[in-house]
Amino acid sequence: MVELKAYAKVNPVLNVGPVREDGYHEVSLLMASVDLYDVISMEKSLDEKVQLETEFPYGGSFDIPDEKNLAVRAARLMQQHYGLSGVRIHLQKNIPMAAGMAGGSADAAAVINGMDRLFELGLSVEERRSLGAMLGSDVPFCITGGTALCTGRGEKVTLLKDIPAWLVLVVKPSFGVSTPWAYQHMVTDETENPGADMEAAIKALQDNDLCAFMDQMKNQLAPAVIGQYPLIGEIIGEMERSGAEKAMMTGSGPSVFGLFKDEKDLTEAAEALERFLAERDPGARVIGTKFLPAD
Ligand code: C5P
Repeated sequence: MVELKAYAKVNPVLNVGPVREDGYHEVSLLMASVDLYDVISMEKSLDEKVQLETEFPYGGSFDIPDEKNLAVRAARLMQQHYGLSGVRIHLQKNIPMAAGMAGGSADAAAVINGMDRLFELGLSVEERRSLGAMLGSDVPFCITGGTALCTGRGEKVTLLKDIPAWLVLVVKPSFGVSTPWAYQHMVTDETENPGADMEAAIKALQDNDLCAFMDQMKNQLAPAVIGQYPLIGEIIGEMERSGAEKAMMTGSGPSVFGLFKDEKDLTEAAEALERFLAERDPGARVIGTKFLPAD
């Protein structure tokens, strides 16, 4: 039996480049794991089956059949590659779904890591990242988590070290956003929707310079998604009015996160957002967390 934590991420920088021949966009992302995780436990079964048991402490359910679930697809991929027996997977789903926080990708990565341990395969990080890339662009990053620059279609991972444990407040509205929709409708005009200076962002992070970092916090998918779902923009405004140093949308949305210098400010902002959302979107979740270093 192995038990693993599958961490969620936020994107303080999300730069999108041109569409490639394979239909994906060239991207340059800053990924940062936060201390919010699903718990995955796995054991070998005597037959070939991959079984998934789920638990939803915050409510909800998967709206896809098990075969399409990234955790199950990761287990099947490992089975096919290494001729393994079946597994029973128990998934406690704490990360909000369709949130722009890589919850499904984190589960897939945890299953790859878990099967590597369970079957004593001794795979390197690079081998596990390559397997992850077959399942989704964010999965390679989730193999280790931490803070990283991700390029290509997101699958090329360069880990960044010694990241400050800045406090993070997350709001997940009750609705979801389709990632393909967000990419397809992106505002492509560079003047209207410029990207961030990634080098400056990384330098600011490594210098623990929150002010300089905030200048570069930008998500090129955000303008179109916020145009479609104005509540996201209202949550960003409310979070900044309530004390966040800076707030923005993560990934393809709809989640919003903000950075805070101290715990008291974060708690007060969380309470203000709970009040704001009670009328606007009672199904939304407000979660206090922080950046996490790599394993
Ligand atoms: O790789 P993943 O399955 O997570 O991507 C979901 C969708 O997001 C893709 O099918 C594509 O529409 C879009 N995408 C993209 N460029 C990327 C990553 C994702 O266009 N770099």
